[in-house]
Amino acid sequence: MHRVAVVTGGAKGIGFGVVQQLYEDRFSIACLGRTKTSGIKNLIEQSNGKVQFIPTDISNVEKIKESIDNVISKFGRIDILVNNAGVAPKERNDILSTTPESFDFVVNTNLKGTYFMTQTVANVMLKQDKTDFPSKIINVSSMSAYTSSINRGEYCISKAGISMVTTLFADRLAEYGIFVYEIRPGIIKTDMTSTVEEKYNQLIEEEGILPIKRWGTPKDIAGVVSVLSSPKMCYSTGDIINVDGGFHIRRL
Ligand SMILES: NC(=O)c1ccc[n+]([C@@H]2O[C@H](COP(=O)([O-])OP(=O)(O)OC[C@H]3O[C@@H](n4cnc5c(N)ncnc54)[C@H](OP(=O)(O)O)[C@@H]3O)[C@@H](O)[C@H]2O)c1
Repeated sequence: MHRVAVVTGGAKGIGFGVVQQLYEDRFSIACLGRTKTSGIKNLIEQSNGKVQFIPTDISNVEKIKESIDNVISKFGRIDILVNNAGVAPKERNDILSTTPESFDFVVNTNLKGTYFMTQTVANVMLKQDKTDFPSKIINVSSMSAYTSSINRGEYCISKAGISMVTTLFADRLAEYGIFVYEIRPGIIKTDMTSTVEEKYNQLIEEEGILPIKRWGTPKDIAGVVSVLSSPKMCYSTGDIINVDGGFHIRRL
């Protein structure tokens, strides 16, 4: 059966790991993003049309709609949406001096972008022919959805907001067989964390912040996306899956 996945920010980091996994799982994939990487170009070349790159900017609602129209004209339907694209603040700044520009940049991308991408794709899923499998929407938030980092408040707020996007759309769409989940990654090795690599090395190795004492990888997240995308997961919606080496466990 022809099943189609849309992955935002799928050209690098966690998103590229997800695209590779869903390709292995035999999905056709629309990789949505701003910049093509050599990794995605290679995968597109070997995929025989099953993987395509479609430009978008999730901070712009018009561009979201254009890109989803584009997905439909190329692939005909959408079975899985992975809302992965996101940004960190360009500069970490104490919450006593967050700038409105940084707040808008982060919240417009991470929260508003996820909300309107979800709304746009949900409306497509509602109209298309049903299959035997549930459709799935998977939001990538963060442990920052509930963890205070006082030097990047706008990021934490954007991720906490994604948790409510998950709850709202899970509730609204359940009766139509469209299920919505949230993945909360912990400390994952990508470009996003490269600027704070030393700090996290120390937290993991010396201060024992994680029960599972290693960095997470895009593959760790992609494996969970694979499980959530499977029709075996068919009587759950609105769930949060922590993929964080056990960071969320309260310890004494
Ligand atoms: N790495 C971690 O430790 C960690 C932890 C928790 C949660 N997360 C979340 O996981 C997701 C992926 O992060 P990552 O670590 O893989 O980061 P990354 O390597 O920086 O990749 C982010 C991806 O999102 C895309 N993107 C950013 N803004 C966009 C926009 N306006 N429109 C379309 N695409 C856009 C980027 O495209 P361009 O390259 O073109 O900008 C890139 O493909 C993010 O939502 C992040 O908040 C990451």
